[in-house]
This record gives sequence, structure tokens and C-alpha cells, in this order.
Amino acid sequence: MAYETIEVRTEADKVGVITLNRPKQLNALNDQLMNELGAALKAFDADEKIGCTILTGSEKAFAAGADIGAMAKYSFADAYKGDYITRNWEEIRAIRKPVIAAVSGFALGGGCELAMMCDFIIAADNARFGQPEIKLGVIPGAGGTQRLPRAVGKSKAMDMALTGRMMDAVEAERAGLVSRVVALDKLMEEALGAALVIANFSQIAVMAAKESVNRAFEGSLSDGVMFERRLFHALFATQDQKEGMDAFVNKRTANFTHQ
Ligand code: CAA
Repeated sequence: MAYETIEVRTEADKVGVITLNRPKQLNALNDQLMNELGAALKAFDADEKIGCTILTGSEKAFAAGADIGAMAKYSFADAYKGDYITRNWEEIRAIRKPVIAAVSGFALGGGCELAMMCDFIIAADNARFGQPEIKLGVIPGAGGTQRLPRAVGKSKAMDMALTGRMMDAVEAERAGLVSRVVALDKLMEEALGAALVIANFSQIAVMAAKESVNRAFEGSLSDGVMFERRLFHALFATQDQKEGMDAFVNKRTANFTHQ
């Protein structure tokens, strides 16, 4: 499929890379981009060879938010009836293989929310995160008031949502929003390294790990622990479990076949 607002490639035949590509608008997220992103993520998810996908932007901007020009004239009726702006965003949560956000530059508003919808965030040292919607007379509309407090706690999430200020990469790592910070020129190398590590593991175990960690945000601790236990036991039905444990016992490298 030909895309206009994103670029898509694979690395080492195992990792999908999606680059947001609306440079003039600092990768502002419009319906076309979100539709193309959804289609590309689904295509990689369905590709047996792909074990992990990286989502990235430009050096200056991962994404500067939802497209303000596109939404400026919407009425409540337009936005509500058409479910505009954020219509297909939750589809991204349905992607079952891991998605890493490799963030440099601005990740603001919907850009920060999009990064948070990925499974973890690796940030360049020039990354800036924020939920500045309050400055536009609105509030975050794609999970910012829900995922940010889960990631950084109430006080900092309130600070971000109410003042609209940005946090830099160091603060974001300290707060737990991002998992690693690296020099800008090492961002893709670091993200690709992590993606290849993941892609070389058992896809079944990787998908189960993702599903189980996500469960931690959905229900009670006892339900989550029980869910994890059921998946853990179920993995003993896979060939990859036999291979992984046999390889350890016999001091050799495991060769996972995703069965
Ligand atoms: N939508 C549409 N266009 C945008 C945009 C956005 N979110 N962010 C930047 N642009 C455009 C600018 O309009 C500008 O276009 P022109 O060259 O045609 O004027 C171009 O990108 C470059 O931007 P700036 O000149 O402003 O660049 P800067 O370096 O001076 O500032 C910035 C960068 C701090 C990111 C600034 O552009 C900015 O504050 N952008 C808006 C950020 C924002 O408010 N995001 C939240 C959007 S609402 C939302 O996301 C809702 C939701 O939760 C789903």
C-alpha cells in the first residue's frame, strides 16, 4: 500500500519501522496519518516475519499533536457525531506484537499520547513531552489524562495537564515516562537494538508478556496476577518453551520458531 503521510520499511527482515512524515506540520496527526498508521501497524502485526515495530518521527518532532488546523473549525456536533480526531486511535492498542516509540524532538498533545500508546518509549536527549491542550481551550483527547498519571503519578500529570508545560528527556526518564534516554544520533541504533532483541525471542512469549503487562493497567492486582499465571502456564504448551529451556540447560543459543 502506498502511504503519503508515513514512511514504512523493514530492518533485518524482522523489525518494522514506521516514520511519521508530515515535516511541514511537525508531524501533526490528522485523520489520513492516523488511518495510514493504523494500516501499517496492522500489516506489520500480521506479518509472521516481523517480531517488533518501531514508531518514530523526525529529529525536530515525533509529533506536535493533533492537527490544530484541521480541528479548529469543528463544532461539538461535528466532533461528537463523527468521533473526529481520535476515531481510530484505540486500534493501536489492539496491536499484539510490541511497538517501541523512538522519540526525538517534540512529543506534544496527541504526539505524547501516541508515544504513550506504544509499549515503551526510548527518547533522544532533545525530546520534549507535554500535554499543552489546555492552552488551546481543550483537554487531552487521546488518553493523556489517563495514561500520563499511570506513567508519572498524579502530581506530575496534573502539573503537565494544567500548566501545559513541557518536560525534557531527563525529567521524563526520572518520572518513568520513558525507559531509556540516548544521544540523538544514537536513537535509531538503540531502538533497533532493542527491537532486534525482542524479535529474536519467541513471538508467542513476547505477545503474552505484552498482554500481561497491559493487564496491570486494566483491573485489580489479584485479577492481573491470575491472568499472568494462566498465560505463564499456557506457555509450557509451546515448542519455544522447550527450545528456550533446553538451550539454557545445554548452554547453547536458543533458536525460536514461534510455535
Ligand atoms: N497542528 C497543526 N500544525 C502544527 C502543529 C499542530 N499540532 N504544531 C505545529 N504545527 C505547524 C505550525 O503551524 C507551523 O506551520 P507553518 O510553518 O505553516 O506556520 C509548523 O508546524 C512549524 O511550527 P512552529 O513554527 O510553531 O515551530 P516552533 O519550533 O516555533 O514551535 C511547537 C514548535 C512548540 C511544537 C509549536 O509548533 C506548538 O506549540 N505546536 C502546537 C502543539 C500543541 O498544542 N499540540 C496539541 C494539539 S491538540 C491535541 O493534540 C488534542 C489531542 O489530545 C488529541
